[in-house]
Amino acid sequence: MRSRRVLEFAKNGKRVGISLFVFFVCVAASVLYLGGYFESVPDLGDAKWHDATLPTETRIDDLLAHMTLTEKIAQMALVEKNSVTAATIAESGLGGVLSGAGAKPPVNTAVGWAAMVAGFQAEARTSRLGIPLLYGVDAVHGHALVPGATIFPHQIGLGASGDGALVERVAAATAADIRTTGVNWNYAPNLDLPQDIRWGRMYEAFSDDTNLVSRLGAAYVRGLQSSSSFGHIPVLASLKHYVGLGAMQWGTSQNKNFQIDQATTPVDLRALRDEYLPPFAAAIDAGALSVMVGLNTWDGKRLVTNRALITDELKTNLQFKGFVVSDWYGVYEGRQNLFGATVEAVNAGVDMVMLPFDYKNFVRNVTLANRLGLVSTERIDDAVRRILRAKFALGLFDTAPAAIDSQLVHHDALARQSVAQSLVLLKNENHTLPITPAVRHIRVAGSAADNVGLQSGAWTVEWQGVEGNWLPHGTSILAGIKNRTPKNSFIEFNASGIFATNSEADLGIAVVGETPYAEGWGDRAYPILSDADLAAIKSLHITCKRVVVIIVSGRPLLIANEVASWDALVAAWLPGTAGGGVADVLFGDTPFTGTLPLPWPRTSEQLPITYEGKTADGTEVLFPRYSGLAY
Ligand code: BGC
Repeated sequence: MRSRRVLEFAKNGKRVGISLFVFFVCVAASVLYLGGYFESVPDLGDAKWHDATLPTETRIDDLLAHMTLTEKIAQMALVEKNSVTAATIAESGLGGVLSGAGAKPPVNTAVGWAAMVAGFQAEARTSRLGIPLLYGVDAVHGHALVPGATIFPHQIGLGASGDGALVERVAAATAADIRTTGVNWNYAPNLDLPQDIRWGRMYEAFSDDTNLVSRLGAAYVRGLQSSSSFGHIPVLASLKHYVGLGAMQWGTSQNKNFQIDQATTPVDLRALRDEYLPPFAAAIDAGALSVMVGLNTWDGKRLVTNRALITDELKTNLQFKGFVVSDWYGVYEGRQNLFGATVEAVNAGVDMVMLPFDYKNFVRNVTLANRLGLVSTERIDDAVRRILRAKFALGLFDTAPAAIDSQLVHHDALARQSVAQSLVLLKNENHTLPITPAVRHIRVAGSAADNVGLQSGAWTVEWQGVEGNWLPHGTSILAGIKNRTPKNSFIEFNASGIFATNSEADLGIAVVGETPYAEGWGDRAYPILSDADLAAIKSLHITCKRVVVIIVSGRPLLIANEVASWDALVAAWLPGTAGGGVADVLFGDTPFTGTLPLPWPRTSEQLPITYEGKTADGTEVLFPRYSGLAY
């Protein structure tokens, strides 16, 4: 009896042991399955996507059919270059790499950039499928992260020119420089329509007028993507930021460091459709194949999770066939649950995620989501198809990698013309301008007079810009004035405007303005001139017969209390490296043709100002949109 019990006990124990074993095997198998293991890897023997004679969509179908789930998801990842090494690119098969916030190669020259990008591309080509990378930069006013590149006026200045043909040429010149460094994707043009000068990104936009932005945005896309001799687009444009960022409300930012950047857009769908979507529609018609979703919130939802706007409006209604990329950490900003955030964004229609750091976790999360049925395989295929469409359009599968010994071309004449066309004359009394030969003695003052870094603004070498005159190939506004001043004239410079007072100069030129800022770091409750610049203007008044004030800034500044005492006023925006263009117009060699691309408010109580020009407090602005004098 006893021995039977012992036998049964032993049998039962064995059964429990087997059950436990089976249970653990099942758990392990599920974990491995959910984690994306057990993938069958398609054979590449019959691959056709390399055949350039086949229609693009056929090539994409073929490539998709040869990809594993992991390879597809990796294509959806966009990683910052310092978060990945060249060596890991091949093993991960990533979709794209970017230089965010001014991340540069160890040697910051055109050749240094080309070598860095070529290294990443070479590695990508050794992955199982050899899919080339997208490499993105913010060349938002020329390829300005590279010292020595021509820096054009920031977009607000191009908006003041109102000249679509000029914008197209500027974008084409920028594309040539970008391609020289092997980069193939530019996070431009900016299609925001800013209504509030307190926002630190106003200068990145052309205007607050939807018609002007539609025209110039489409021109920029044409210039950047104009066909090369091989019939491929040289550089992929990215329309940003989708959508409605210009209407964001002061004080509602999601980011505790900011006030209006990354804030809430309190407009209805009708206003979005009437004002904010048309520039995207126009740029998509012009061939844009990527759109960047902004960090704002609309209708109680962060844009990046808004399926109605991303999938229904953009992809279905506007028939956008390219891919949607999220902004820097945009999917995760303020989120604890990274898995949930990823699922929500991908299902909303985001195709490529600017992670920009942890791509391994991203691949794991999307794989798990797919295995659990939370993100469908169709959605993943659609995202990858859109990304590959852009890569094929760039000719990345069909062209040899760029040479790495090319030099940047200097687009001096074009840059100088752009500067001249971007200037807006807002006041001109007592025939102060143009400067005639009778003006023999000029005094120049102000913080922005002799500072190429400052006149270039942010996104110049560094995210937040640089200061000083060390940028190769740059001409300060002062240098431009000196170069143009006749030999028999006398020109003096002192930034603070302090000069010997025993003689009165014919003219004082105060070149004043803002120091560079990018994104929310430029949010300001009261955008005004500095005390030092105001003092410099006052000092000039003491020692000069007349004073012209040139404002170098990313936005209209609050000057209503001071402007009455100035004889002339010029808005110069952020002109870039061709400071000589300012002298061209001051001396009358080129006429003033620029007009204000957005209204210039009198007080902060007027903000924001609507598209129709209505101020918040119902009072009149200082200068309405499209103001601009001529001579
Ligand atoms: C900005 C984008 C930019 C991206 C990549 C973000 O912080 O909002 O405009 O393209 O960074 O640098």
